[in-house]
Amino acid sequence: MPNAQQAPLKIAVAGLGTVGAGVLKLLETQGSLIEQRCGRRIEVVAVSARSKGKDRGVALSRVQWFDDPVAMAAQSGADLVVELIGGSEGPARDTVATALETGRHVVTANKALLAIHGTEIAQKAEARGLAVAFEAAVAGGIPIIKGLREGLAANSVSEIHGILNGTCNYILTEMRTTGRDFADVLADAQDLGYAEADPSFDVDGVDAAHKLAILASVAFGTAVDFASVFIEGIRQVAAVDFDYADQLGFRIKLLGIARRTDAGIEQRVHPCMVPKTAPIASVDGVFNAVVAQADFADRVLFVGRGAGAGPTASAVVADLIDIARGRSTPIFGVSAGLLGAATPSPMEARRGAYYVRLMVKDRPGVIADIAAAMRDQGVSMEQFLQRGRSPDEGVPVVLTTHDTDEASMQRALATIAASDTVLEPPRMIRIEQF
Ligand SMILES: NC(=O)c1ccc[n+]([C@@H]2O[C@H](COP(=O)([O-])OP(=O)(O)OC[C@H]3O[C@@H](n4cnc5c(N)ncnc54)[C@H](OP(=O)(O)O)[C@@H]3O)[C@@H](O)[C@H]2O)c1
Repeated sequence: MPNAQQAPLKIAVAGLGTVGAGVLKLLETQGSLIEQRCGRRIEVVAVSARSKGKDRGVALSRVQWFDDPVAMAAQSGADLVVELIGGSEGPARDTVATALETGRHVVTANKALLAIHGTEIAQKAEARGLAVAFEAAVAGGIPIIKGLREGLAANSVSEIHGILNGTCNYILTEMRTTGRDFADVLADAQDLGYAEADPSFDVDGVDAAHKLAILASVAFGTAVDFASVFIEGIRQVAAVDFDYADQLGFRIKLLGIARRTDAGIEQRVHPCMVPKTAPIASVDGVFNAVVAQADFADRVLFVGRGAGAGPTASAVVADLIDIARGRSTPIFGVSAGLLGAATPSPMEARRGAYYVRLMVKDRPGVIADIAAAMRDQGVSMEQFLQRGRSPDEGVPVVLTTHDTDEASMQRALATIAASDTVLEPPRMIRIEQF
């Protein structure tokens, strides 16, 4: 039951863009429901953004305005600071640091900040008995942090994999369904607002890697280790790869994969071929999905919208409700002092199958040379596809391998690439048999 005696939770919001304005709208629309669920009101006492005059579609006349979010964190009198500016350094980092130093809880959607400074932030907060909550930082509206950290708290998690970037999933889905090239679909995605003017963080896999590093920390109880994530984006995936994938029974997805192996913890983001029958293969468009492999609960799949004002605000406000209620959990699932350094497993140790697409001169002996380069590295081929014949011209050849290790595959590809009958750099996509 709501406790009318309890003082409101006073919050200050830094950043009033897509997410910040979304949070203010949600708090306005759902005020009474939130009050029932918190047992107290959540009251916005201050806001900060760059441009005071900008219409944000929400009433700001009754709250204190700060040009400087760091000054707001220190001086607004709020119990909690919501950081929705973005970026791993600069005002976002300073705002969070100041909030903690002046004794205020923090809620943030900032995956870049947490991927790079997460462990240090957790230590600082814990030392002062403050909460830092970040449900919105990973997979937007999907309650994956809570799902892993609280819902699966009784399990040891051995693997997490997921579609962690809606922009890439949208682009790959459009490429598959329309047959268009990457550049063409990216331009459309930018017009529709699904991709930024500078899309590199998304399409080069960095955004997904930030989220994966956070998930791995929560899943495995290790310090956030973004520097060890292997990252490859989607720029090299061609329209023709979708046709071959279809013939071979696969879909192409940009996945983040974190796995405990005997060699240490694997963390990687790259395009993958996944069987069409895998549940994740049918998660299309801007949707995100995360699969956790847990020892007692077994396989758990989360699907939902990974971005946008509504889903992201939903996650931010869920964190506010937890803190208003006084619910608390260690920030990354275990006490910051116990977040051990993980031993990273190098990418060369990855074991699995591979898809390779080559453009070769249609000349006798070429295929035997490719097969020899593979055999010399102990890589065994599983399937081989060649379409059409065009003597002495370039023809595409596609092959898949049985499970092998990345180091052997890379050596075989280097030999193949050096051959004068191979006309373009080989294209390789890793196959994941979930
Ligand atoms: N957009 C999403 O769907 C989504 C989903 C999940 C997580 N996130 C994360 O949420 C955070 C915010 O994203 P967003 O999309 O809302 O960004 P955004 O639309 O670009 O908004 C950023 C806000 O920060 C303000 N700002 C920038 N520099 C500032 C400074 N020096 N001092 C004060 N305010 C400053 C901007 O002010 P002005 O408005 O005056 O320019 C703007 O209001 C990021 O960490 C992002 O990664 C976003």
